[in-house]
Amino acid sequence: MQNSLAGGAPDPGQYFDSGFLCLGLETSCDETSAAVVAGAHQIRSNVISSQIAVHQRFGGVVPEIAARRHLERIVPVVEQALQEAHASLDQIGGIAVSYGPGLVGALLVGVSAAKGLALALGKPFIGVHHVEGHIYANFLVHPELEPPALCLTVSGGHTDLVYIRAHGEFRVVGRTRDDAAGEAFDKVARLLGLGYPGGPAVEAQARQGDPQAYPMPRALAGEDTLDFSFSGLKTAVARLIQELPDRNPRTLSNLCASFQAAVVDVLVSRTVQAMKKLGVRTVLLSGGVAANGELRRRLEEAVRQQGGRLYMPPAILCTDNAAMVACAGTYRLARGERSGWDLNAVPSLALPEAPAASGASA
Ligand code: KG4
Ligand code: ZN
Repeated sequence: MQNSLAGGAPDPGQYFDSGFLCLGLETSCDETSAAVVAGAHQIRSNVISSQIAVHQRFGGVVPEIAARRHLERIVPVVEQALQEAHASLDQIGGIAVSYGPGLVGALLVGVSAAKGLALALGKPFIGVHHVEGHIYANFLVHPELEPPALCLTVSGGHTDLVYIRAHGEFRVVGRTRDDAAGEAFDKVARLLGLGYPGGPAVEAQARQGDPQAYPMPRALAGEDTLDFSFSGLKTAVARLIQELPDRNPRTLSNLCASFQAAVVDVLVSRTVQAMKKLGVRTVLLSGGVAANGELRRRLEEAVRQQGGRLYMPPAILCTDNAAMVACAGTYRLARGERSGWDLNAVPSLALPEAPAASGASA
């Protein structure tokens, strides 16, 4: 077990005081990010150094290049985060870092930096699951928010419906059986020659298109499952492209709008199904795809129709950033949790589950 409870009872209140500064680090994929968050909810700085330009010509993230770039950027990014927060290293009370899932070489840069800083400063550090970070982007900006809640996490690597029983206790009640939603956006964008990352490009095209122009599959519709499947959608788009030799701007935007509508339909209907099944009214949205305007609008409407409330972070906190990691880490530090020097990067790390007897089952 890499995370453990510290000996002696900490005063949880001190961590939620604006005087407690947590330095967050995020290097799981293609953003090198460092943030200073005060009292779990106040963002003092959130520096995000994106590698998009580096990977764009390859059409996706190249793991070896990502790791090298993180190594080059981590120190200047931490320095900038401290500078923008008007904080010095000795004012930092704790360090939080994403230690999985993600690209192993990329994660290692953040984990090693966190350990080095913790050792040099004599301050506690805590490893955070990357998806837990995405979920906590909501707690970061909505201090009044309390579990139980249901969170739809949609990113390039994940499409999960997570029941949050209590802080730090999760139960994945639905997940993708193949591609993640963001991965589907990226693959379709690549098929259409729209570049990387695909989500924002497809969304921009879809704005001018007709969502009913082309039929798209809604996988697993009508089945008694909270799981998702998006690989058939990509195949459907590939087949349509072959059948449409004349790809003018109109067909391009219609294809994007039809694809996006299919993804959003499935995400919204499965979330509503989960709300009913689990009896949950508080719903959170997180992950890179949560930046999608159509998903935000449609999900908010659907949750409201069920008598619930949807919480979502602003778009900049939906994609990878270290402020969300600092927030999740602060909640863990406040519960007395600490990571040991044996903390390692875990590329396929599972979300910490609630005990079977205490969580919702689905
Ligand atoms: O959370 P994130 O930054 O990284 C992962 O943890 O994967 O998510 C990145 C994903 C990419 O697949 C990207 O195409 C997608 O989020 N994305 C979007 C939008 N912005 C980012 N997908 C749909 N619409 C968007 N506006
Ligand atoms: Zn992410």
